[in-house]
Amino acid sequence: MNNSGNLKLSTYISEADLQKKVKELGETLTKKFKGQEVVAVCVLKGSFVFYSDLIRHMDTDIQCEFFGVSSYHGNTTSSGEVKVTLDLGSPVEGKHVILVEDIVDTGLTMNYLKSAILSRKPKTLTTIALLEKPEALKVPCELDYVGFKIPNDFVVGYGLDYQGYYRNLPYIAQVQNFN
Ligand code: IMP
Repeated sequence: MNNSGNLKLSTYISEADLQKKVKELGETLTKKFKGQEVVAVCVLKGSFVFYSDLIRHMDTDIQCEFFGVSSYHGNTTSSGEVKVTLDLGSPVEGKHVILVEDIVDTGLTMNYLKSAILSRKPKTLTTIALLEKPEALKVPCELDYVGFKIPNDFVVGYGLDYQGYYRNLPYIAQVQNFN
């Protein structure tokens, strides 16, 4: 039993729609990088489910790296501060890097991550986010690939959490009634 007894979930993006989109994105990345070695960076914690599905649709040589950041601290609005909880395990200098993020909300985290990776001089940097909330952007944030553009709603599931819960839902849901 968790602390979510008074919260209501409604399906926002179904499991079937997610799987179809992730397959398409994986195939697009395969076309772009076929025959080349890439480093796929999973941004923890939120993108681990999307990431693990995405890389299994990518048919090229992939090294997996993990970058842990925390910006929400369990609430539903961004603090604007990005704290690194786990750094990359190996240098990415001279490599093709794909940065895999769950959701771009204010854009602050993605911009932080982009400059953190670019400062390590990769050969190329490709950014991908499963979800983007264009109305919530506080800073311009260009992405190479986006799964779904969504309104400014707080969503959970498929890796995304509310106070640490719901990451294991196989679909994306909207949470209502926070009190
Ligand atoms: P940003 O820095 O505001 O763009 O926030 C990015 C991070 O906030 C994401 O990587 C998520 O971890 C978290 N986040 C933003 N929107 C949501 C949401 O709707 N549900 C769950 N987490 C979110």
